Amino acid sequence: MTFAIGGEATVNRLGYGAMQITGPGVWGPPRDHDEAIRVLRRAVELGVDFIDTADSYGPYVSEELIKEALHPYPVGLVIATKAGLVRTGPDQWLPVGRPEYLRQEAEMSLRRLGVERLDLWQLHRVDPAVPLADQLGVFTELQKEGKVRHIGLSEVSVEEIEQARRHAEIVTVQNLYNLTNRQSEAVLEHCEAEGMGFIPWFPIATGELARPGGPLDALSQETGATPAQLALAWLLRRSPAMLPIPGTSSVAHLEENIAAADITLTEEQYAALSRLA
Ligand SMILES: NC(=O)c1ccc[n+]([C@@H]2O[C@H](COP(=O)([O-])OP(=O)(O)OC[C@H]3O[C@@H](n4cnc5c(N)ncnc54)[C@H](OP(=O)(O)O)[C@@H]3O)[C@@H](O)[C@H]2O)c1
Repeated sequence: MTFAIGGEATVNRLGYGAMQITGPGVWGPPRDHDEAIRVLRRAVELGVDFIDTADSYGPYVSEELIKEALHPYPVGLVIATKAGLVRTGPDQWLPVGRPEYLRQEAEMSLRRLGVERLDLWQLHRVDPAVPLADQLGVFTELQKEGKVRHIGLSEVSVEEIEQARRHAEIVTVQNLYNLTNRQSEAVLEHCEAEGMGFIPWFPIATGELARPGGPLDALSQETGATPAQLALAWLLRRSPAMLPIPGTSSVAHLEENIAAADITLTEEQYAALSRLA
């Protein structure tokens, strides 16, 4: 189950989201540094070759941990990072799309990750106060300079994707999407039709879908797969463009989540899960 990002960076569709390895509330150092390192190394051992992060996770903590755990990187590992959301406190995420700021964040992500080129650089949020052409102008400039391989967007509508594509080649879109929240259904379908990858964030809804007694419990008992695995198996089945990035701070959850790639849902099970929206 692979997908070629931008038609050439082929990855296993089930990736890993490296937000949960930062401190509580995605703020500060991890609760358990050594376990965070183990999670990243185990992910790669299990065949994960697509890792999502952002400058703002920590801030900076997630990118630094990725470098500490995995550098020098195995051939074929695709690390996706983002810029455009600043953190001015634990609960404050503000879009800032001023070109000089975006450029600085790209340069700093290159340094923190220890790479010469960002495989997939995503605009974390469109800043309504800055012309889209100026925000994406930095992305395409850095691409021309060889510092960015591919460009992605996050939390955008179909209309915004099409506006953006006038300024840059967009290869992925990362929006909130999971079994019970399908507000981005139209965006998913658009990505699939246009050959862009769709990266659903919050794929197991902060563990909520994995909760005993939750919406997946009955099917979990019937199939023997855990609720988290069912949520991920459903996503993988939903679209060949789907690149889920479940996040976890524990090796045990990581192993459980990655095993979801081997689950084949029957038509009935897939339909039953689809009805949970
Ligand atoms: N573009 C954006 O705006 C945006 C926003 C948010 C997130 N993201 C990206 O999307 C990734 C995933 O989103 P997310 O981390 O918020 O949500 P998620 O992957 O749906 O859920 C992660 C939560 O579920 C728990 N969990 C993971 N596996 C589990 C399992 N097998 N059983 C029970 N609980 C489990 C984790 O706790 P434990 O640590 O205890 O396992 C954590 O609290 C992030 O890492 C980040 O890369 C992007």
